[in-house]
Order: sequence, then structure tokens, then C-alpha cells
Amino acid sequence: MRDADTRGTVQRREKLTPRGRQRRMPWVIRDVVKDVNKAVARRWKILDPLLPEPSDLPEGCMPPLLSIGEGGRPVGLGVCRHQYVAADTLAQTWGAATKFVLSVRLRETDPRPALDDLLTQWREHLERQPEAEKEDTAAVVNWPSRDVAGVLALLEHGLQPMSVIAARPARRPDPAGPVRPGTNTGPGLLIRPAGPGDLDVVTELELGVVRYDAQFGGSVPRLATEALVRAETQAALAGRPGWTWLAERDGQPVALAVVEPPAAATWIANMARSGATAYLQTMFVRPGVRSGGIGAALVRHVHGELDARGVDLTLLHYAQVNPLSAPFWHRMGYQPLWSTWEARPAAALR
Ligand SMILES: CC(C)(COP(=O)(O)OP(=O)(O)OC[C@H]1O[C@@H](n2cnc3c(N)ncnc32)[C@H](O)[C@@H]1OP(=O)(O)O)[C@@H](O)C(=O)NCCC(=O)NCCS
Repeated sequence: MRDADTRGTVQRREKLTPRGRQRRMPWVIRDVVKDVNKAVARRWKILDPLLPEPSDLPEGCMPPLLSIGEGGRPVGLGVCRHQYVAADTLAQTWGAATKFVLSVRLRETDPRPALDDLLTQWREHLERQPEAEKEDTAAVVNWPSRDVAGVLALLEHGLQPMSVIAARPARRPDPAGPVRPGTNTGPGLLIRPAGPGDLDVVTELELGVVRYDAQFGGSVPRLATEALVRAETQAALAGRPGWTWLAERDGQPVALAVVEPPAAATWIANMARSGATAYLQTMFVRPGVRSGGIGAALVRHVHGELDARGVDLTLLHYAQVNPLSAPFWHRMGYQPLWSTWEARPAAALR
């Protein structure tokens, strides 16, 4: 099971279990949420038309934190959830084992004062959680990338921008159609769908991304990672033929792209406006042949396939400080949609 939503949590291949009792939200607060959400919907539409309608806030570990503005009017709400990511899932390779996630809704065009207030209250709450001191924990806030007015408050509270969810709306299919599998493209490449017989090389290239992203804290390699990657790869190659591609040069696989089709990407689809949404899970070019056009040729091929298959939007994650992925994805037509801000360990929240 994967879980990701506009309520504030999204992590690649997430499998989450709420920790402790989640409290039901009082009805009077529900009315406030509805009211604040209306204002948030207006703000988000202006900020970025790819953002979804804000969803209801989830049940949290306690009643929602409230920020009260002039005249006693609620201007901000925050719900904290404590989540445990199971050790026997790949989700733990993509972040901390225990997460304290704050979902926020802020009414005003300048959200900074209310956000500052909510983050202060949240820090006081985390100070009372002995578990937040542990190394393998994170305090997490998902924030619309274009909502720049809140960034200073996030920084002042010790949060760091760790990763980005980027989005690419589909283009009209190229009249020439996608490059056919098995045809030569770009820089002397043969691009072809991978099959069950490619398990070893696809696993190896998948692990290449895990190792590369570990340099930025984007991934956290665990003892079980290798076996879990292999098992997931095996299942994907057998169960989702046609969504994994290898680029070969001189008969040797040099690059890998893996996409989750819309039916498998529902865990992240509601981070964006509605439509058939795919998730580009993996992109890797072998170190010795990077910056020579192979990545671009493979991604253009994949995009041609996705556009032709009726995918409306493609989402992906990249680590904010990965110096290769951010320029690459922006060049390939992706725009930042959500930024995930984290303090690790959670007690590092200021
Ligand atoms: C990101 C990656 C897939 C790009 O593949 P690549 O084959 O090196 O990229 P290309 O040569 O096709 O370059 C395409 C565009 O990326 C950008 N780019 C490529 N190399 C770059 C570099 N060293 N610095 C900055 N931008 C670069 C450029 O905009 C380039 O377009 P241009 O040549 O028209 O200017 C590859 O570097 C890689 O596997 N990195 C390690 C793993 C990784 O980060 N994966 C993505 C995880 S989200």
C-alpha cells in the first residue's frame, strides 16, 4: 500500500502506519476547515493551476493546531500525524523510519505569520514526544513549491527543502508517433522495453539511483534495500510489461527508465489536478556516459509512449540538491509542484 495525499504526506513508495491514536476532529473545527479550505483553493488556483483542490484535513494525533488572526478569526490550521514506515518495505529506503507530518491550511495571501505560529505550536508538541529525539525520525511539511511567501517561516524553523515532486502535463502526440521499441535513436542508442530476463541489470540500475540519491539524504539505504528492490523489480517486470525501458549502446544497457502506469500511481495522483496520472519512478544513466544526450533520448521516447497512451500528467520525485536531476527534469519539461521540507531528526525543528 502506498499513501500520499494533499493532506501533507508524500514519499516515494510510501507504506505508512499511523502511530498512536489518531483523534477525530470536532465538528466545529470541520466547519473552520471547510471555510479555510475555500480560501486555500482560491490561492492554490492562482499560484499553480496544476495543484489539486485542497482535500479535507486528516485525523491527527491531537485536535488541530489553530492560528487565530485579528477579530478572533481562525487563519490557519495544522494537523500532526505520527507515522511509522514499515521496515520490510521499500518505503523505508526513501526516508526516515518515523515521521511527524504536519498538514497545514492557511487562509491569508501572506501565510507567513500564521505558518510561523503553527510551526511554533508544532515544535512545542514535538518537544513532548520522546521519540522525536531518535536519529531515524523526521518532521515533515509538504508545501506548494510556488507558495514562496511561506518559505522564510519554514527556513526559520530549521526545516530544509529535501525533495520536489515535479509535474509534466502531456503534449499532443507527435504525429510521427513514439519512437518504436527496438529502433535506433539519438546518440546511437537502441531503446527497448525491458522484460523478466532483464531482472539483474534493471535491479542494478535501480540500485544506482538509490546510491546516488543517498548522497543528498534523498534515500536511506537499509539492510533490506537490495532484496526489496530486486523483489519489486521482478514483480514490475512480470506484472507491468511495457512500462520499463532500457537504452542500449553497442549491445550494453546504459540507461533505465521505469514508469508506474496510472492504475499503480493512485498513491500520488491526488497531489495534482485530476486526470490520468503516471509516476516516473526511476531514471538512471550509467556514470561514464552521462551528459551525452542518452538521458534526454530515453525520456523523450518514454514521453512519446506516455502521451500516446493517454497519460495526462506525469509526476516524479527528485532530491532538491541533486545537481544532475533538477536541471535535467526542468529541461525535459517538468515543473516543481510540491517541495517537501524536513527536519531530521524531528527534534531538530526549531
Ligand atoms: C539525471 C540523468 C538521468 C541525466 O541523464 P544524461 O544522459 O546525463 O542527460 P543528457 O546528457 O541527456 O542531458 C539532458 C539535459 O540535462 C541537463 N544536464 C545534463 N548534464 C548536466 C550537467 N552535468 N549539469 C547540469 N545539467 C546537465 C542539460 O539541460 C541537458 O540538456 P542540454 O544538453 O540540451 O543542455 C543522469 O545524469 C543520471 O543518471 N544521474 C544520476 C541519477 C539521477 O540523478 N537520476 C535522477 C533521479 S530523479
